[in-house]
Amino acid sequence: MTLVLSGRKYAGVVKASLKNRVSDLQGLPPGLTVIMVGDDPASKVYVAAKEKACKKVGFNSHVIHLPAEISKADILSVIDRLNADCAVHGILVQLPLPDHIPAGLIASAVLPEKDVDGFHPVNVGRLWRGEEGLFPCTPSGIVGLLHHHDIRMSGKKALIVGRSNIVGKPMAALLLRENCTVTVAHSRTADLTGQCRDADILIVAVGKPEMVQRDWVKPGAVVVDVGMNRNSDGKLVGDVAYDDVFAVCSAITPVPGGVGPLTIAFLLENTFKARAKLLAK
Ligand code: GUN
Repeated sequence: MTLVLSGRKYAGVVKASLKNRVSDLQGLPPGLTVIMVGDDPASKVYVAAKEKACKKVGFNSHVIHLPAEISKADILSVIDRLNADCAVHGILVQLPLPDHIPAGLIASAVLPEKDVDGFHPVNVGRLWRGEEGLFPCTPSGIVGLLHHHDIRMSGKKALIVGRSNIVGKPMAALLLRENCTVTVAHSRTADLTGQCRDADILIVAVGKPEMVQRDWVKPGAVVVDVGMNRNSDGKLVGDVAYDDVFAVCSAITPVPGGVGPLTIAFLLENTFKARAKLLAK
């Protein structure tokens, strides 16, 4: 029997727990401020979803919309103001940014203790060193989902396909912390199919509709699909050919309802954690 790893259900569990923990808090509730630069339609949808999720669990939430033409100096001064604001525990700058604003510059400007995306170089360093910190939401959610389903990671061969700073690289660091033997594959990897077939845990984050086929997957493997694509019929599909792979793997995340909902749930977790750390200072 193949296990369906429902991120939607697990995100519901995480958010219900957060709502309880928030109602037990004294003083200011956790506060998240999201900065959105320009009018990217997909970003608008994500930002609205983040705001709604915050309200549902009792967080304070603010969105700051800035024009696409804003200068680097002006966006940095908005971030400085939020870094200094005691009611703001988490700051997230929605990506993508306009071309004239380097994402690395912005990630480094957010106070590491408020960096709920886990993109600041200090948090990246803490992640790889095995220290406490704030770590990227999507990979954190995936590790949480696997734990929630009692999926053993220690000693397993994990292959991550995709090397982005948001998913692939932090996923590698987190799975290393879980004692997996980790390989990161990418567009230049030789024999990608063979690499995939060798994996006990296969995490795919490449943005290619249904790229991973049934014969790419080791029987009994655990498959996590981070992709979210439209196929030629306009249907929402992942990076994995779900129905075919379902027949050979032991567990798989669906699309939609798999990894997607975890990102927001773990953004809320990070904000809750950031507040606790900031107040304990
Ligand atoms: N855009 C798409 N995913 C993300 C994310 O995880 N964080 C931010 N800040 N922007 C994104």
